[in-house]
Amino acid sequence: MNKILSKEKLAEDIYRFIVENKDVASAWKPGQFIILRVHEKGERIPLTIVNADANKGTIDIVFQVVGKTTLLLSELNEGDSILDVAGPLGKPSDIKRYGKCLIIAGGVGVAVAYPVLKELREKGNEIISIIGARDKSLLILTDEIKKLSKELILVTDNGSFGKKGFATDALSELLSKDNKFDYVYTVGPVIMMKKVSGITKEYNIETVASLNTIMIDGTGMCGGCRIIVNGEEKFACVHGPEFNAHKVNFNLLEQRINMFKEKECQALKYYEKRKSE
Ligand code: FAD
Ligand code: FES
Ligand code: MG
Repeated sequence: MNKILSKEKLAEDIYRFIVENKDVASAWKPGQFIILRVHEKGERIPLTIVNADANKGTIDIVFQVVGKTTLLLSELNEGDSILDVAGPLGKPSDIKRYGKCLIIAGGVGVAVAYPVLKELREKGNEIISIIGARDKSLLILTDEIKKLSKELILVTDNGSFGKKGFATDALSELLSKDNKFDYVYTVGPVIMMKKVSGITKEYNIETVASLNTIMIDGTGMCGGCRIIVNGEEKFACVHGPEFNAHKVNFNLLEQRINMFKEKECQALKYYEKRKSE
């Protein structure tokens, strides 16, 4: 169970694992995620299910190394097993025939957007995609997304590939020329999703954001993923992770995901120090 059948480095510090888990593979729908633990005393972290093969009983996850747990995960190899995997969790994406859709994803958010994009395309939607990354070395899944999109706009902060600037600059430019979109889906850094939401609100385009709150149990009991949507308290793990972006209190989300920054940095430093001794 949870054996890593394949490990692939997609970009600097970004990995794709194919993991054996029949139950999750057969029940998964796009938009859902797992919560995993790497070892007995390890914390739980959520990762999106990027793809699944119910016949083979496998799921794909794509993750970026940003701290201790993702570093520990990246140190596992083909043949190793992930200690435990709970899922599929969260509500599946609300995918139907909207018409003309825009996907705007930043960083490793591209992996989260991919299964949704694929399903939107299968439902007959026309897709324009904007993908942003800090540098060209961090762009992932561009070929896969290009195949499914009528147009793909690539943006890097430093101009090392595609347009120079932020994904939100490309969004403003695009909408100033053509704002006849029926649906926008966004996932990535909170600052990006907040800006996307502000821009699409002006054009009154339905916009859904996949929120990257802190999650612990993933079942609505711990309160770690509490957010405010339309003035009401919601738990991203059970009511989401996707919400109407125009109703999300992004300032609170920003505060809450940074709550443990100091402890997270200490945990990583302590682990790296112990490893080097
Ligand atoms: P840390 O140093 O502990 O934390 C770095 C930052 O990651 C924190 O500041 C915080 O913003 C976030 N984080 C830390 N702990 C958690 C936690 N328990 N839950 C959520 N966020 C946390 N990342 C991917 O690379 N690929 C994915 O497919 C993906 N899917 C996600 C799906 C959902 C529904 C959510 C909520 C998050 C997803 N993430 C994904 C983010 C991923 O969970 C965090 O990057 C990971 O938990 C960081 O753990 P760490 O110990 O390595 O880093
Ligand atoms: Fe615990 Fe959502 S992760 S309530
Ligand atoms: Mg951590």
